[in-house]
This record gives sequence, structure tokens and C-alpha cells, in this order.
Amino acid sequence: MASQKLALFGGPPIRRNGYPDWPRLGPGDLDRMREVLESGSWGGENPTVRSFAEIFAQFHDARFGIAVSSGSMALELALHAAGIGKGDEVIVPAHSFIATATAVSRVGAEPVFVDVDAESFNIDCAQAAEAVSEKTRAIIPVHFGGVVAEMDRLTDIASSTGVRLLEDAAHAHGAEWYGTRAGGLGSAGIFSFQNSKAMTAGEGGMVVTSDEGLAESARSITNAGRRSTGGWFEHFELGTNLRMTAPQAALLMAQLERLPREIQLRATNFKRFAKEISEVNGIALQKAPTGAATQTRYIVPGRIVEDLFGADRDRFVEAMQSEGVPVRPFYPHPLYANPVFREWPHRSLQCPVAEQLTRDSFWIPMRVFMGSEDDAADAGRAVTKVYRALKPGSRRSTNGFPEA
Ligand SMILES: Cc1ncc(COP(=O)(O)O)c(C=O)c1O
Repeated sequence: MASQKLALFGGPPIRRNGYPDWPRLGPGDLDRMREVLESGSWGGENPTVRSFAEIFAQFHDARFGIAVSSGSMALELALHAAGIGKGDEVIVPAHSFIATATAVSRVGAEPVFVDVDAESFNIDCAQAAEAVSEKTRAIIPVHFGGVVAEMDRLTDIASSTGVRLLEDAAHAHGAEWYGTRAGGLGSAGIFSFQNSKAMTAGEGGMVVTSDEGLAESARSITNAGRRSTGGWFEHFELGTNLRMTAPQAALLMAQLERLPREIQLRATNFKRFAKEISEVNGIALQKAPTGAATQTRYIVPGRIVEDLFGADRDRFVEAMQSEGVPVRPFYPHPLYANPVFREWPHRSLQCPVAEQLTRDSFWIPMRVFMGSEDDAADAGRAVTKVYRALKPGSRRSTNGFPEA
């Protein structure tokens, strides 16, 4: 089939009307919010928040949930409640959102960066094992894009070295590892409800754990150092106010009920997209390890193999955006290369994969997979169109671009 003229060169784009917006209201959301607002109980030690935290934790196979103001605060809280601080090291993957690493520094400990796996985009378990030192207190695997990290191997490493696993499940609401949900696999898990996340109240976060001591400490820190056994003005820990509000919890409760359906929708649409690009060479989408049975597809990362695809990552991203598909480049630096770590103490192993991903990788946001199957297929059609126009052997004009 002859290649169609790319939108990049003035041809008609595959998608003129974009993809569904996110976040979006679901049926009944406003009624639930109104109910809470009319109840007069908006904050404080709030029954709506408590009930949402309990149900969310149970859903994620953990006994306790502590609802907080953000995923970043949930990370700091989990570290703090686990007693991690000055003199300690915490192993983190070289690619994630910055909070995975800065939370470690902010509680006074030092992040130790290890490489990620080229197929799963998750922490490289062999390097994580290698990085454990006498100072290591925890490993934070990030379930990147909603694909659970190799939790069996990480659990072996953690139990043989006596360190904790704190899951960064900010991308992984509802993800599963052999039938157990993210957050319920390590000694604690954290979630984010920031604006782009698969469950969102604009902002918000959660720590889930089955460790009663950690839960009590986390609850106390979140609530100004109070304890359930003490009075309102009795403060036992160096706490602060991290509490979530009731309207946030009401909105999130409604979203939790929809989550399994939405994960299924994204799975179906992702499958359609993957089928559509099956003839394309030079694109390697994220691969889930066998145990990561339920994937949330919060974002779908992939790599461009330039020699096979015929264009580099930046040209691919530019061409896809022109076709109306919101693909974006991967993180521009491994975490340790951010300016903040010129100042803050850390260790880093050699991370050649993380370095490579900054150059050859991209991701597709979940909203591409939240419309119809045909919407997702369009994203695949756009990839195929770009590939056919740019692939090695396609006719090129003198400026190096394919002839339109
Ligand atoms: C992997 C990861 N961890 C932590 C966070 C921090 O969450 P928040 O933005 O809610 O503070 C985010 C995202 O924002 C994230 O993507």
C-alpha cells in the first residue's frame, strides 16, 4: 500500500478530534459530592475519608489505608512511618517521577539509583540486589505505567537482606501480581490521585499497609501526631496535617467503583492498538512480566529502534502529534541527572538502560485507550502511517524526509 502523506508534511491527520479528556465526571459523581458538602462535614477526622481509605485498602489487599493530600506526601509518610531517615539508604529506579527519589532525601535518607529493565521499564532486580548495603532500609519499586514490577524476585531480595519493599503504585490503581493487587504486596504501598492519574480528585494520595504499627504511626503523623487513645490536643508524634478532604474521598469512592470496568476498557482498547501495529518494525512496547496479570495502562511506554523504524524517537513523536495522537517523549533525564541531585547526597550504579530510554522512548497517555476500540485503532493506524512513510527504503526527497 502506498504511503499516505503525513500530517507533518501537510497531509490530512488521522485524528481531527483528539481523544477523550481526562479527568472526567462519571454518572452520579456530582450527587455524591453534593451529599458530602451538604452533610457539613468537610474535613477533620472525617467518616467519608475513613470509609474510603478502608475500602480502597481492602480493594488493594491491604488491611489499613491512610488517605493523604498527595502521592508525594504518601511516599514521605510511608518512609517516615517505617522509621527511615538520616544515615539510611533507599534503593529507587533511575526512572520515575521525581517524588520517588526526593521523598527519600526529604526524610533525611539517601536514594541509591539503579537501572531499569529495557522491556518492562521497571526496576532492574539484579542491580537492586547488587545495590543493597549495610545502610539499605528499603527498596521502592515503581509499577511503571501500571505494570507491576517483578515482585517475587524483589520479595526474595528484601527478605534475604532484611529490607522493606515500599511499592510506588502511583500508576497502578487496581494492578495485580498473580492475583494480589499492587500496594498489598510490599510492607506498604503508596498511590497518587493527582490530576492525570487513573483515579483522581485533582490531588490526593494514599498509603496502604497490613503492618499495624506502620499504619498507626502513619495515621498519627497525618493527623498532627494524635493517637486514637489520646485527646484532640494530645500530640504523641512529630506529626503534621496531611489529611484528605471529604469531597475528595466522595469523588474517589465513585471512581473506585468504576475502576475495574475502566481497566477492562483500557485492556481491550490497548489490545486493539497493539494488533493494529503488529506489522510495524522498530517499535517495542512495554512488556509485562508473567506475574503482572492485570495492567492498568495508565501510560503505555515504548521504544523506537531507529534502524528498523526509519526515524528517531523525536521525529516519531512529532509525526504522531501531527496525526492528532498525544504521544510524548519519555523523561528527559534519569532521576539522578536532575539538578536537585547536584546538591543532595545519593549513590548511583551505572544505568545504561535508563540513559538509553531518555533518547529512544516515548509514552502514550491512557486517554487514548479510554474511548472506543476504533479510537485506539486510530492511534495504531497513525503509527502504521508514520512507519510506512518513514521506514527504511521509503522514497526520500533531498531534504532527507520521505517524498510526500
Ligand atoms: C511514580 C510516581 N510516584 C509518585 C508520584 C507523586 O504523586 P503526586 O503528584 O500525587 O504527589 C507520581 C506522580 O505524580 C508518580 O508518577
